[in-house]
Amino acid sequence: SATPVTVTVTGAAGQIGYALLFRIASGQLLGPDTPVKLNLLEIPQAVKAAEGTAMELDDCAFPLLRGIDIFDDANAAFSGTNVALLVGARPRSKGMERGDLLEANGGIFGPQGKAINAGAADDVRVLVVGNPANTNALIAQASAPDVPADRFTAMTRLDHNRALAQLSKKLGVGLDEISKLTIWGNHSATQYPDLFHAEVGGKIAAEQVEREWLENDFIPTVAKRGAAIIEARGASSAASAANAAVDHVYDWVNGTPAGDWTSAAIPSDGSYGVPEGIISSFPVTSENGEWKIVQGLEIDEFSRGRIDASVAELVEERDTVATLGLI
Ligand code: NAI
Repeated sequence: SATPVTVTVTGAAGQIGYALLFRIASGQLLGPDTPVKLNLLEIPQAVKAAEGTAMELDDCAFPLLRGIDIFDDANAAFSGTNVALLVGARPRSKGMERGDLLEANGGIFGPQGKAINAGAADDVRVLVVGNPANTNALIAQASAPDVPADRFTAMTRLDHNRALAQLSKKLGVGLDEISKLTIWGNHSATQYPDLFHAEVGGKIAAEQVEREWLENDFIPTVAKRGAAIIEARGASSAASAANAAVDHVYDWVNGTPAGDWTSAAIPSDGSYGVPEGIISSFPVTSENGEWKIVQGLEIDEFSRGRIDASVAELVEERDTVATLGLI
């Protein structure tokens, strides 16, 4: 049978890790014909919990799962890895400033980027989930100069899926009738979910909803959905975040459907006025294992303002981590 693909998951004993590992092992990350080997990376205090999850993975008897190894050392965990899911991150604690948060995460994503550079497989693909995801991805990328820059991506697929769900509910249409939705910018409250290019039943979505709903309900609901989940659940999004990570990697590896696109944060080539190198969310298609930014969309003044505001935040984060010597 085929050689297994090595998938490394960091923060494996966390909430998202628990929701994610079973989906990967069952074949949903890469497809039903691809066996997987799991490498779990945790901090030493959480290794035992990861071992418990590994016991449960064994007990699922997934035919595609060809092995599980648990590490507290990044170099070992990323050795030979084909897909790296960087989930573990340092959360913001009380009174922590943005700069402190970026610096603390630099201490995680810098060494992990180095470890990927040193030992990952030539085809390695990296998805950063841990927040602040876009800038953590930039830090990992900067620490991995021998890996092609476009292999470093950050997750805005959860925001994309949240926007799909809100629009589907609003219009009372099936998700299969919606296409070409886009999240632009940062995975943060400044993100811009764009309905001016999205289509429902082949017609522009923005023309099928009230402008008032689009600006004052849809955009803030999508952008603040994470906080609403915490408020309701008493814990942050986990299964939906894991689901989005699966969607992102599946599409990256297997391609996006013809006539549609999705959203992912990838290094900018300067498209749509986003400074080159910034890891920003764009409308993207995937073909032959590579993301491509959808070109030629007309951006009106309203969208321009929203995109620019979110990109300005990303530029500020980049400048902060540059000042800290993290990139
Ligand atoms: P969690 O706190 O339940 O789990 C995080 C795990 O990471 C913990 O087990 C911790 O021990 C581990 N960890 C910390 N530092 C590590 C390191 N250096 N190496 C390996 N593991 C390490 O958090 P949860 O809920 O699983 O969320 C994980 C991250 O995902 C958070 O940063 C969260 O903000 C982010 N997130 C991102 C979303 C997105 O759409 N991009 C959506 C939801 C969450």
